Amino acid sequence: MTAAAELIGVTQRFGSFTAVDEIDLTVPAGKLTTLLGPSGCGKTTTLRMIAGYSEPTSGTIRIDGVDSTRTPPEKRNLGMVFQSYALFPHMTVADNVGYGLKLRKVPAAERRTRVMETLELVGLAHLADRKPKKLSGGQQQRVALARAIAIRPKLLLLDEPLSNLDARLRVQMRAEIRRIQAETELTVILVTHDQDEALEMSDEMVIMNEGRIVQQGSPQQIFPRPADRFVAEFLGYENFLTAADGTPLTIRPEHLRIASAGPGLDAVVVDAAFRGVDLLVSLDVVDPSGATVRLVADVRGGAILTPGSSVTVIAPDDHLVSLPR
Ligand SMILES: Nc1ncnc2c1ncn2[C@@H]1O[C@H](COP(=O)(O)OP(=O)(O)OP(=O)(O)O)[C@@H](O)[C@H]1O
Ligand SMILES: [Mg+2]
Repeated sequence: MTAAAELIGVTQRFGSFTAVDEIDLTVPAGKLTTLLGPSGCGKTTTLRMIAGYSEPTSGTIRIDGVDSTRTPPEKRNLGMVFQSYALFPHMTVADNVGYGLKLRKVPAAERRTRVMETLELVGLAHLADRKPKKLSGGQQQRVALARAIAIRPKLLLLDEPLSNLDARLRVQMRAEIRRIQAETELTVILVTHDQDEALEMSDEMVIMNEGRIVQQGSPQQIFPRPADRFVAEFLGYENFLTAADGTPLTIRPEHLRIASAGPGLDAVVVDAAFRGVDLLVSLDVVDPSGATVRLVADVRGGAILTPGSSVTVIAPDDHLVSLPR
């Protein structure tokens, strides 16, 4: 794996507060890496240090193998799109996209070619002469993306670029960014606090909590094997129980099964909510350590589960995940 960027022991302090705490991170070239975590965990701070907008308190940042810790942003050749992708309102779409090329003194003829190529890539060539305010939110977002891509950046940094779009458009744009990334083979770092977005878009996922990286890997590696309780909860594992030997365990609601009797864990139905295709059942379950825990099962069809009835809960071994003590 070639690294497009490497962070080695990078820390960012604001006064006595440590926003990013000695993180080591390798960003693979030509892939889409997401930084995922709850609000305030240090995602934007990390991205800003990679971009050069703030200098780490300590540690080293390498871009393309070169120590760039103290390189000013304009010398890093990176593309950035922020949550509020401020376009220049008085310029046409084409001039917005060509802006970075003009700054870099790319000759007019080549600039035009590259602007049109980039607009083709994001599907907006037909709107080249429009002003941004006559575009929809999704179209404006594509212009911002095109503007960042047009300079052929070494790294494309996206900080919650979809959060201003409505839910449907956001889902569409996920696929769109994925396609553009695959076509251009750009190295992309995308910041999000949305786990579905990260799971759907990432080649590599980096999960952060309180300024630290808590797990890194592909969605296929991380989703079935969260490293600790924080990651598990963040990815929607709602059930926590304890094995006979004291090991903490977790399992997803959709992996629990409910039977009227037979081998399994003794349980009493607390509540059952019908949700159309499935039924969300909460239960008081006697776990393998003998403790009674409240679990949630997401089941399809089956018996009518009335509150108060005694049932058996089955937690299949292959879906139970052991967590560190
Ligand atoms: N310039 C600053 N001065 C002081 N504290 C800061 C500064 N910038 C960020 N912080 C603090 O550092 C922490 C991390 O902030 P950061 O913006 O990186 O979070 P984030 O993960 O991007 O969160 P969000 O999902 O809300 O955007 C927060 O507690 C924030 O208040
Ligand atoms: Mg942020």
